[in-house]
Amino acid sequence: MSHLPTPTLRPGGLVDQFGRTARDLRVSVTDRCNLRCTYCMPAEGLPWMPKAEMLTDEEMLRVIGLFVRDGVTQVRLTGGEPLLRRSLVALVEGIARLDPRPRIAMTTNGVGLERVADRLVAAGLDRVNISLDTIDAETFTRLTRRDRLDDVESGLAKAAAAGLTPVKVNAVAMRGVNDTDVADLLAWCLERGYELRFIEQMPLDAQHAWDRQDMVTAAEIRQRLSERYTLTPLPAADRGSAPAERFLVDGGPAAVGIIASVTAAFCAACDRTRLTADGQVRNCLFSRTETDLRTPMRDGATDDDLLDLMRGEMWRKRRGHGIGEPDFVQPDRPMSAIGG
Ligand code: 5AD
Ligand code: SF4
Repeated sequence: MSHLPTPTLRPGGLVDQFGRTARDLRVSVTDRCNLRCTYCMPAEGLPWMPKAEMLTDEEMLRVIGLFVRDGVTQVRLTGGEPLLRRSLVALVEGIARLDPRPRIAMTTNGVGLERVADRLVAAGLDRVNISLDTIDAETFTRLTRRDRLDDVESGLAKAAAAGLTPVKVNAVAMRGVNDTDVADLLAWCLERGYELRFIEQMPLDAQHAWDRQDMVTAAEIRQRLSERYTLTPLPAADRGSAPAERFLVDGGPAAVGIIASVTAAFCAACDRTRLTADGQVRNCLFSRTETDLRTPMRDGATDDDLLDLMRGEMWRKRRGHGIGEPDFVQPDRPMSAIGG
């Protein structure tokens, strides 16, 4: 990579060569999951990370603290399924104690959220995104390979009651599975006051079965929703670094988002960086490389050493994900070990 400036020429902070700055840190706190969504995992699951390779809470909080010191203002906890990390409440408490305190969000499948939502809120959790691709019980079971729709529904209701509002629902549409249900899902969310966002399926499945030809596009989702609802695009100015194109539904105030992660990539405005459960920094979902913090940390690295590694990873961030380009190669790590 001879075209890269030497690290000493790098400016301070979490910046890259295209002028983007990382503000949003996504932390995968575990690679395990209690569902087996077909677009993510094989039926038998995956070989989980050995415990010894996972960051302890103390290590995780140290790294998150350094990111926050270097400009991160939002920390999003993801997985796998973040609720499967036993110490999650303590982690949230630790993050909430950082100064300046970042906003704390979580992306979860909602299973088991009902039981812990109050404790998470008391610890400092601000917002949740809950993944739900269909409200048809049979389709849910086919898609996630688990009969847990009721748990997700009660998790959602509890999130709203606990004040984790606005509750956002993330959905992925898959052809021949739930693509014809999208308007039903919107109706269901509208009734309950949840803000729904569709995300184009990305090539991140462990089985490498993703097929561009088969992907349900943002345009197609918009078309299907328009068969039942009038969608009015909200000005892009309201969008910032948020990747969802948002539409008022039937004149508002409710809105629906559609994230064209593949067909209209938002890489140019990306303000994200990522930490995996085993202590690797990734500058993109689609990175082919990552920067190990765990080994240096366990070998006695100073905060400045770690900051230099984190900044170096950010500096190498590529312009875009390159899906659809001839040299695109799917990352080795599946989504469940990177975090959404
Ligand atoms: N493409 C798009 N979204 C995905 N998710 C999981 N795998 C994919 C994929 N291949 C979503 C989940 C969840 C979030 C973590 O990312 O549905 O909402
Ligand atoms: Fe679990 Fe999320 Fe993957 Fe589904 S998409 S199997 S809920 S990690």
